[in-house]
Amino acid sequence: MNEPTRLHRILELARWAPSGDNTQPWRFEILGPDHIAVHGSDTRDWCLYDFRGHASHMAHGALLETLRIAATGSGLSASWSPRDGTQDHAPVYDVKLAPDSTEADPLLPHIEARTVQRRPMRGPRLTAAQREVLVAAVGDAYTLQIFDTGADKRRIARLLWDNAYIRLTCPEAYPVHRDIIEWGAQFSEDRIPERAVGVDPMTGRLMRWVLGDWRRVDFFNRYLGGTIAPRVQLDVVPALACSAHVLLRPRHAPDGWLDHVAAGVAMQRLWLTAQSVGLHLQPEMTPVIFRWYARAGDVFTADAPLSARAEALATRFEAIANAAPGDPFAFFCRLGVSARPASRSTRLPLSALLIDPQDRPGDEPR
Ligand SMILES: Cc1cc2nc3c(=O)[nH]c(=O)nc-3n(C[C@H](O)[C@H](O)[C@H](O)COP(=O)(O)O)c2cc1C
Repeated sequence: MNEPTRLHRILELARWAPSGDNTQPWRFEILGPDHIAVHGSDTRDWCLYDFRGHASHMAHGALLETLRIAATGSGLSASWSPRDGTQDHAPVYDVKLAPDSTEADPLLPHIEARTVQRRPMRGPRLTAAQREVLVAAVGDAYTLQIFDTGADKRRIARLLWDNAYIRLTCPEAYPVHRDIIEWGAQFSEDRIPERAVGVDPMTGRLMRWVLGDWRRVDFFNRYLGGTIAPRVQLDVVPALACSAHVLLRPRHAPDGWLDHVAAGVAMQRLWLTAQSVGLHLQPEMTPVIFRWYARAGDVFTADAPLSARAEALATRFEAIANAAPGDPFAFFCRLGVSARPASRSTRLPLSALLIDPQDRPGDEPR
């Protein structure tokens, strides 16, 4: 790639959007000085957490919102629409750019700094000002339910403890866990580096060895309490050591995959806004995803008792949120205060994300 153009600079920033397990289910095609096509994909074929592609749809929404914010830093407005006839498996979003003299979006400086914090955080109560900006960030189509008392956190810690049992013993989740961690790494371009996972080095070494073979996982879980250390370190302690857990709830049930893209826009606005007011965030999406399966009547595992556990967990989650089985949940996370994580996922270089990596002449916006 030659001298970076304006569109390249925008895409360099946009690619820092979050995606489930850092899968980056997007590629970019520059079709003209004011037109980028975002080619989305999903991971439902191999990742059980990508229920009907919706986790990827949310990542697409996060990417499109990040692209919009990034464009404001170059004096451009960006608006996107799904291409006519595009399918949810491989959607194409057309992004049109136009000169715009309004000021850069205040979330712009936070795009690259935003990152997952999976370790325990300090937990000062959210201030009224923080609550207000977080609620405003997600827009009128969503409500934010904030759980921040000691009793709330203990209930959620128990929910996550039981949820993690499903995650860690489910044979269908095993290949995902085996493949998405880059062992021994502090940074990873296309996965989650081991040091960002949130376990201590000894547990990390053990996890690496055990995850090398499903029979080891099964043996450890059955006879040696193999789920205990990861559940304590990855679920219970972080659930207690935070300021609040937050549930993003759409006011209306999703009516098609584009509503999940919209939820991804709201998620990214929440995350960037949290970053802008000094809060780190960790998504806690697996209880939401197991509930999606349970309430849709879809089976995610051949292990029938695990399905029953997911069903029971959905009911408990609804009791905590005071919700009915038909009420939609879009995104669940915890927020808190901590130093910037020393380890994080990075991203594939832009050259690997461009469908046509050759510089096209004249791709400066008019
Ligand atoms: C839809 C979605 C679901 C996610 N679910 C989880 C989750 O359940 N637990 C978690 O620790 N991180 C979760 N993540 C965070 C991703 O793993 C993370 O964004 C990705 O690895 C890139 O890292 P970064 O956000 O630090 O740049 C999720 C992200 C997205 C977009």
